[in-house]
Amino acid sequence: MTLDLALEGRVAVVTGASKGIGLAITRALAAQGASVVAGARHSGDDLDALRDEGRVHPVAVDLSTPDGPSELIAAATELHGGVDILVNNVGGVRPRLSGFAAITDDEWAWALNINFLAAVRTMRAAIPAMAERTGASITTISSVNAFLPDPGVIDYGAAKGALTNLCKSLSKELGPSIRVNTISPGPVQTDLWLGDAGVAATVGTANGIDPGEVVRQQQAAAATGRFTRAEEIADLVIFLASDRAGNITGSDFVIDGGLVTTL
Ligand SMILES: NC(=O)c1ccc[n+]([C@@H]2O[C@H](COP(=O)([O-])OP(=O)(O)OC[C@H]3O[C@@H](n4cnc5c(N)ncnc54)[C@H](OP(=O)(O)O)[C@@H]3O)[C@@H](O)[C@H]2O)c1
Repeated sequence: MTLDLALEGRVAVVTGASKGIGLAITRALAAQGASVVAGARHSGDDLDALRDEGRVHPVAVDLSTPDGPSELIAAATELHGGVDILVNNVGGVRPRLSGFAAITDDEWAWALNINFLAAVRTMRAAIPAMAERTGASITTISSVNAFLPDPGVIDYGAAKGALTNLCKSLSKELGPSIRVNTISPGPVQTDLWLGDAGVAATVGTANGIDPGEVVRQQQAAAATGRFTRAEEIADLVIFLASDRAGNITGSDFVIDGGLVTTL
């Protein structure tokens, strides 16, 4: 028996959609028959290929600006008349390896802006466009660092903690009309961790060790011994966006291969 998620014809908006987790989510939603409005600063070959298949509409937008999120939602409503599914995925991390006191206001503002305020602004713009849609839902990609504080990503963790808290509050306010959930991944195989300027390269360079060794140490901390694949996050997103998850709201889902050892 197949699990029919019935996403055919639903309208989805995904932020940070050109690569990594956002791209995997965009691809998975489109494969389920949803129309996806995909926001990122640049498109890229992968997103362009999805566009050419017909279900994905890339929008070039800087979601760190005050107006970027509302421009993305406006593009979706102009194209499709409303929004059924919002995935707040955009985010970023810059390892802070010189201690708390060295982090400037500008660096704090950068982390809070892209990891927290971008989602605030996107949801504020999207909620009116979702209010009349039966079965609407918001899924936000937070992080285990929301509740696994780490001085090396102290600003990122604080922003993600605020993000998870915000989404829980919103799930109460939006009650039966829009479900609101978060996903908290541990390390995922994307450029954020593995790219040229990713966490492994930055931490490895700072400590004089090979980035591959940074990755091996991080993998060893998980019960499964590996990073999560972006597609595994996407699989949970499409389930949460479906009516199969119709009574799931205000929940947080950890996907970390058993990295977090507390209950
Ligand atoms: N990878 C991990 O280990 C991990 C773990 C836990 C949580 N997460 C969370 O998962 C989410 C996605 O992470 P990822 O690993 O997939 O990151 P990624 O590979 O670095 O991709 C980030 C995406 O966001 C877009 N983006 C970045 N800044 C943007 C901006 N100002 N405006 C519009 N789009 C922007 C990028 O495209 P452009 O550069 O073209 O704009 C790209 O599509 C983030 O919220 C992250 O915190 C990741």
